[in-house]
Amino acid sequence: MSRQMMVVSTLEELTTARRLLDEPLGFVPTMGYLHEGHLSLAHRAREECKSVAASIFINPPQFGPLEDLSKYPQDLERDLRLLEQAQVDLVWTPTPGIMYPDGYQTWVEVQDISLPLEGVKRPGHFRGVTTVVAKLFNAMHPDRAYFGQKDAQQAAVIRRMTRDLNFPIEIVVCPTIREPDGLAMSSRNVYLSLEQRAAATVLYRALQTAEGAYGEGERNGESLRQTMKDVVASEPLAKLQYASCADHETLQELERVTCKALLSIAMYFGETRLIDNVVLG
Ligand code: PAF
Repeated sequence: MSRQMMVVSTLEELTTARRLLDEPLGFVPTMGYLHEGHLSLAHRAREECKSVAASIFINPPQFGPLEDLSKYPQDLERDLRLLEQAQVDLVWTPTPGIMYPDGYQTWVEVQDISLPLEGVKRPGHFRGVTTVVAKLFNAMHPDRAYFGQKDAQQAAVIRRMTRDLNFPIEIVVCPTIREPDGLAMSSRNVYLSLEQRAAATVLYRALQTAEGAYGEGERNGESLRQTMKDVVASEPLAKLQYASCADHETLQELERVTCKALLSIAMYFGETRLIDNVVLG
């Protein structure tokens, strides 16, 4: 489609604009402050679908009371320019009042796989994510929705929700996009000082070291977790939250790696929390 990108805010405007789009529709939900990772999702959607829509909405319920909601980076003008360059057809920018009007009280919660890893460190986070994604899906009616592998647990939780609630939507998970030194792209990287930015390469180094050990035959889950912890311990600016070697589907920690596994890691640099992961097998 070569028409000008439509930018809408209210639900009524979205419904009208949505009717103008050809199918299949690919959808890229975002919280804005876009980087190459988001754009790779839009490009993939562009390749695979007749129309592409994106949303930009910083979703308050997925932030904990001590998290960075009020200072989450924003640059709507730049985001819209980038989405237009990526040939997105429709952008929805709802307000918190549209998504959660007065008296709002309905929540979508996926149980077991929301609990470990990010679920332990960010209680309530996935309830906020699944609620907003269900609402975005209900309003947008996409055929495919695109998410990044960097948020592997989020992708698994959304896939589960999509199946459990019978959304007729294919969830497409796209590879993590990295800076040349390996740091996974994230809107939060802008918070890092120069020193922290240099130190943050430790996330991917730790994952790669454990992946290397796996490649040489290591199958003991605890040894792989310890390998990551040892690499992180060598970086004084990093404060590790978890280093996990878990079943790729259930996200339960593994004693032995005999199936596809997810190595994942979370840590703080000052007040900035970063995550990353690689898949084994
Ligand atoms: O990954 C994100 O940016 C957000 O969690 C999402 C999926 C847009 C929901 O707010």
